[in-house]
Amino acid sequence: MQVVTTVAEMRRLRAQMTGGVGLVPTMGYLHEGHLSLVRCARAENEHVVATIFVNPTQFGPQEDYQRYPRDPERDLRLLEQEGTDVVFMPEVEEIYPPGFDAWVEVGESLTGRLEGAFRPGHLRGVTTVVAKLFNVVQAQRAYFGQKDGQQLAVIRKMVADLNMTVEVVAVPTVREPDGLAMSSRNSYLSPEERRAATVLWRSLCRARELFDGGERRAEVIRREMRDVLASEPLAEVDYVSVVDAETLAELETISRAAMVSLAVRIGSTRLIDNVTLAD
Ligand code: PAJ
Repeated sequence: MQVVTTVAEMRRLRAQMTGGVGLVPTMGYLHEGHLSLVRCARAENEHVVATIFVNPTQFGPQEDYQRYPRDPERDLRLLEQEGTDVVFMPEVEEIYPPGFDAWVEVGESLTGRLEGAFRPGHLRGVTTVVAKLFNVVQAQRAYFGQKDGQQLAVIRKMVADLNMTVEVVAVPTVREPDGLAMSSRNSYLSPEERRAATVLWRSLCRARELFDGGERRAEVIRREMRDVLASEPLAEVDYVSVVDAETLAELETISRAAMVSLAVRIGSTRLIDNVTLAD
């Protein structure tokens, strides 16, 4: 496994690769969710490139950029075990040199709601860095988790509308045994908060249970989910939403694939999760 920190070195290694390249962008502090993306990439490509970059432009001024967890040595060990060929882990100045001022932005219809509404500028930071990584690595395929459902939809839209040639591959959410979606941010939770955090999954399971029982009214599903969330005193809800899985338009009736998603604060930790409901 080779580890590079500059765009020039990354491009040089890329130029030597023959056959398909799979890209796995991450912010590090890797867990089984990230590793499942790497495994998918490993299974489907000749070469696997992973990136570790805590992207400052996708964090708001009051958010956790400074304290975002980091453990590059452990990350590199795990990536090596999974058969990663190249790890690109640039410094901030390599990606954002002085004077950097070009942005890639998907329109409000996809970015104005959900995470976009609660984290202004977040998705613009994501699409900008992902576009840069696509340009540098020139992969055939890029792997993203369903866990960040809106991020995935926004990246797909960027790729389609800007005629990017990379194929975006979605990977199912990896969960802890009690259902909590794996996330680097779970490390912020105290033991008490960790127990409370299962309320996200319990709320999503309630949505699925209603849907499986024939309920198609989004408002009923949202209300029942909120009731589950209200039973957990440590949980503060940012949003509970039922949207069209592709357009992210809020639904009244579930008549096509829907993404049920939520954002909940447990203490000072903000967690998101989602499931897809489809006939
Ligand atoms: P990060 O949060 O590190 O996640 C990297 C990738 O892992 C994303 O595609 C995310 O959806 C996926 N992932 C996270 N938790 C997962 C889980 N439990 N199961 C499956 N996949 C999971 O998302 C980002 O970084 C950044 O926004 C990035 C795309 C790297 C741009 O900076």
